[in-house]
Amino acid sequence: MLEARDLTKRYEDGLLALDHLNLTVDDGELFCLLGANGAGKTTTINLFLDFIRPTDGKALVDGINVEADPLGAKGRLAYVSENVMLYGSFTARQNLEFFARLAGQAGRSRADYHMILRRVGLPEKAFEQQVKRFSKGMRQKVGIAIAIVKGAPNVLLDEPTSGLDPKSAAELMALLRELRDEGRAIFMSTHDIFRAKEHADRVGIMMEGRLVMVRTRAELEEEDLERLYLEYMEVEALAL
Ligand SMILES: Nc1ncnc2c1ncn2[C@@H]1O[C@H](COP(=O)(O)OP(=O)(O)O)[C@@H](O)[C@H]1O
Ligand SMILES: [Mg+2]
Repeated sequence: MLEARDLTKRYEDGLLALDHLNLTVDDGELFCLLGANGAGKTTTINLFLDFIRPTDGKALVDGINVEADPLGAKGRLAYVSENVMLYGSFTARQNLEFFARLAGQAGRSRADYHMILRRVGLPEKAFEQQVKRFSKGMRQKVGIAIAIVKGAPNVLLDEPTSGLDPKSAAELMALLRELRDEGRAIFMSTHDIFRAKEHADRVGIMMEGRLVMVRTRAELEEEDLERLYLEYMEVEALAL
């Protein structure tokens, strides 16, 4: 479970990037956060990862305060960034093995790693290939495989589908739903309104550091998410 309580970030230059965010993403929930560039989505994710420190409020991972116990919190998190960091000269399986060991999860066989790579839909012939020539979609898949191998109950993703072709994006979302069904809390930022509506249990819209709207899947059946989003952006433009 991920919780933001009055989570606030003012950067050193004075910019209020996140303004008292209150949000819970439950175990077994897939939450998609929409918002224009600069709305504060990455800032939110970075606060959960302890990449930056809050100026007020707190981020909790399964009840662990990230600021007070960053290692404890990190142990329960997996992060898939827009450009997954992998070791280019390692194969997909070697990367997986490396990150598994780093997370204290040694003792798996090559076949075990292959099984996980198969599960995330990486083509069989890529398992033992160096990742340096992998497409973005393939890197994302290895990123998710690392999240699975870590066994992290909470997964954060920053615009994971941006730049993916439609098939890869659909596969990624299907995979995230599977992880959700296993009981993980999944929090992702995205610009993909269509997929947010299709796959998320709840969708939020962030504007200038504030969470201005949250809707459940059921509520969105009655509403046009794209129109709602554009209406909020309209309001923002008028306020400027
Ligand atoms: N390290 C930083 N120092 C100062 N301002 C930053 C920093 N990182 C992000 N910002 C600013 O904070 C705001 C929110 O940024 P960000 O969280 O990256 O938004 P998003 O991910 O929604 O596009 C933006 O105005 C951005 O320019
Ligand atoms: Mg961002």
